[in-house]
Amino acid sequence: MATDTLDVSATPSLLVERNPNPVDPATRAALIAEPGFGRVFTDHMAIIRYSDAKGWHDAKITARGPIPLDPAAAVLHYAQEIFEGMKAYHLADGGMALFRPEMNAKRFCDSARRLAMPEIPEKLFVDSVRQLVETDRDWFPPVEGGSLYLRPFMFASEVFLGVKPSAEYLYIVIASAVGGYFKSGAPAVSLWVSQDYTRAAPGGTGAVKCGGNYAASLAAQAEAIRKGFDQVVFLDAAERRYVEELGGMNLFFVFEDGSIQTPPLGGTILPGITRDSLLTLAREEGLTVREEPYAIDQWQADAESGRLKESFACGTAAVVTPVGKVTSPDFSFTIGDGGAGALTLRLKQRLVDIQRGVAPDPHHWVMRLD
Ligand code: PLP
Ligand code: COI
Repeated sequence: MATDTLDVSATPSLLVERNPNPVDPATRAALIAEPGFGRVFTDHMAIIRYSDAKGWHDAKITARGPIPLDPAAAVLHYAQEIFEGMKAYHLADGGMALFRPEMNAKRFCDSARRLAMPEIPEKLFVDSVRQLVETDRDWFPPVEGGSLYLRPFMFASEVFLGVKPSAEYLYIVIASAVGGYFKSGAPAVSLWVSQDYTRAAPGGTGAVKCGGNYAASLAAQAEAIRKGFDQVVFLDAAERRYVEELGGMNLFFVFEDGSIQTPPLGGTILPGITRDSLLTLAREEGLTVREEPYAIDQWQADAESGRLKESFACGTAAVVTPVGKVTSPDFSFTIGDGGAGALTLRLKQRLVDIQRGVAPDPHHWVMRLD
């Protein structure tokens, strides 16, 4: 294969090696009939190597399978790993598309810089995702809200125990046939306010997507589940007062005057692409939109007085998910009637209609695939 190169700035193209033993059609149909989230994987993966000496090289789509890893690979010791989460959608006309993939590419590079990793060229990132979807097009689940969830990730593969940025990396994209993120089917999720744990501190890695952030959130998320709630909500690390985000979703608040608010991007929360898209749609509707800190005691007071009408969480996996109830060791409050609010549902529908090619796409967010 001629993709090996000594020019570290070159962008290789991906060679497609088809899986000689794909899942047979009947088994695939059974798997994608009720896929859930993140357990059903397609036949292929994209894989690209990076080394300081060669740059990006050996780019290919190949059979999905285990990756050999030396026990001294740096990622296993110092967690130099980043990832993205994005979806390929089936369009109403039968085509398929990605949604704002250049934003995922940009955020992946932001994450790479923060973890002292090499940035991948945007074209190579988008091509790897795009070619994987085109190769595994038969895996779209035929269910309401079904899509291919794409997980690009990169980790340090150099065999060395010294603490320093690795000189070698593997970049991989896998695809998973998915339905909804939450299995309960309830109209709204319940949140547990973590008092013992925070997710991200100023100067830390909260604004990027590294595996370490999620590892650090698990004890808090497990506590939420143990206590009977769906998700944990994190407060800011400095004052333990301002609402930041969930382990894997941003938060929005909807008020009785029709205005909406979401915590600002101050370096400790992830700049969600769903968040950005919803802010754009809300501003276009003429809604008053604030990106301002919101204190947990204010959230409680506003929910109890009725000034706050709705809250919702949003992200690629969760799309737009209403929040019904918020609980901490000190208090518990219900938002609205505890179910899905009207504005929440409208914004969700507007977003989904664009993603599915049902509504016009004035911002060119939808990238149609072949
Ligand atoms: N916040 C966190 C911590 C996340 O993991 C995610 C999901 O990627 C989001 C927010 C939402 O981001 P996006 O809308 O880009 O999926
Ligand atoms: C996503 O929404 O893509 C995420 O990465 C969140 C994760 C918790 C599934």
